[in-house]
Amino acid sequence: MTSPTNESHSFTPADHVFVLFGATGDLAKRKIIPGLFHLAVAGLLPKKYRIIGVARKDSAISTKEFRSRAYDAVCQFGSNKPEGPMWRAFEETLSFAWANDDGTGNLVDAVTRAEEEIGGSAERLIHLAVPPSAVIGIVEMLGSSGLNRESKIICEKPFGVDLASAQELNRVIATCFDESRVFRIDHFLGKESIDNILALRFANGLFEPVWNRNHISYVQIDVPEKLTIEGRGAFFEQTGTFRDMVVTHLLQVLAFIAMEQPLSFDAKPLRDEIAKVFQSIRPIEPHCVVRGQYDGYRDEAGVAPDSQTETFVALRVHVENPRWKGVPFYLRTGKSMAEGRQVVTVGFNEPVIKMFPVDHLEGQRHGNELVTDFADPGSIHTHFLAKQPGPQMRLGPAVMSFRYEDSFRTANNLEAYEHLILEAMLGNQALFTRSDGIERQWEIAAPVLENPPPVEVYAQGSWGPASIERIVSPNRWSLPR
Ligand code: BG6
Repeated sequence: MTSPTNESHSFTPADHVFVLFGATGDLAKRKIIPGLFHLAVAGLLPKKYRIIGVARKDSAISTKEFRSRAYDAVCQFGSNKPEGPMWRAFEETLSFAWANDDGTGNLVDAVTRAEEEIGGSAERLIHLAVPPSAVIGIVEMLGSSGLNRESKIICEKPFGVDLASAQELNRVIATCFDESRVFRIDHFLGKESIDNILALRFANGLFEPVWNRNHISYVQIDVPEKLTIEGRGAFFEQTGTFRDMVVTHLLQVLAFIAMEQPLSFDAKPLRDEIAKVFQSIRPIEPHCVVRGQYDGYRDEAGVAPDSQTETFVALRVHVENPRWKGVPFYLRTGKSMAEGRQVVTVGFNEPVIKMFPVDHLEGQRHGNELVTDFADPGSIHTHFLAKQPGPQMRLGPAVMSFRYEDSFRTANNLEAYEHLILEAMLGNQALFTRSDGIERQWEIAAPVLENPPPVEVYAQGSWGPASIERIVSPNRWSLPR
């Protein structure tokens, strides 16, 4: 995180060559290229920079084609229109090169040329926007071609597919890159409202004193998506929702909710606290997990007709430490669900003695919850009971709300990827995952990967299989609101 304590911190990175593997892929199109252009428009890219898209020879394209695809990507997914001098200057920085794992290709020449054009001593940031199975080949090629030297590297999630593959990835990366130059990205950590969890907790005496098992009865982290797999059949079949969303984003969000106060927001203390949370989480027991698959998933392109891959997961985990002992954390996420939301609900204990009758509220949710909506632009709602106006002491549900756009100027918000690419250029690892944290996440996930519960079919547009109720019983899943 760009240090909140250091007002003089510069947000303009040194001159850079940005090398994007997977430049013709979906992530580059949806997030990375539009994000880089937004950073340029916001004046947050270096004074001088070059962006080199890279693919293997068989899917390489020309620089002209790359620029045209970048234009289309920004039109479709960007927050700024690709037009005027700003776009022309950005477009000029884009070029394309190819590189195969055996070291053949013209990437080294392209990087040398870009560095010469910049002049002086440009830094190099290599972003691997490729599936886990492609990472080792590329990293070894970077090592043998010398492109690893003095470079920083961004690796996408999921980082490996299990403990053994994550360890192997970490081992190979360590032979080519110093850990201080490795940026394992989990874009949820770049979201304003996730970072704001730390502000909410550690900057406000209102919340931190009650942030523990004495006052909190459960935590629910909910990321239902309306999207289907959106044509990513091949990726999804290898990955599934458990790896794609749980052993990544949802556990990272959990760590922000559960961590102890770090000494500062610098990378080491922050990531030490995250690692301690993961150490305290018990490996997930398969009977605490429901895996679902939406009806029709098996008809998607690239999906096996008898696929057992899950598109939905709901589960319960426990953080075994003095702060959280006995408080269940419920996690739920899936594709093709009733709503698209990103929500953390912290449920507080009921008062010991209930002096006001609330029978008339039976079946409704009535208060005692702090709900953080962390999809941009983000909001927080405190749900509580209040006296209804009138002669009777009759209570009704009430809400206090914070919305980013009501309190702050949100026009210049950075989207999560933009924020994190900027942090990587600045060399700040605080919001990137560390090798020990990742490996521990795979240990936590291992019992489910080894012994997955069967997938249960759910209707598209629903809240997942009905059997998820057993995971939270006697509590109930809170629907986002
Ligand atoms: C990605 C997953 O990491 O996160 C996708 O691969 C998911 O499956 C996406 O849809 C959700 O992120 P957001 O915050 O960009 O909607």
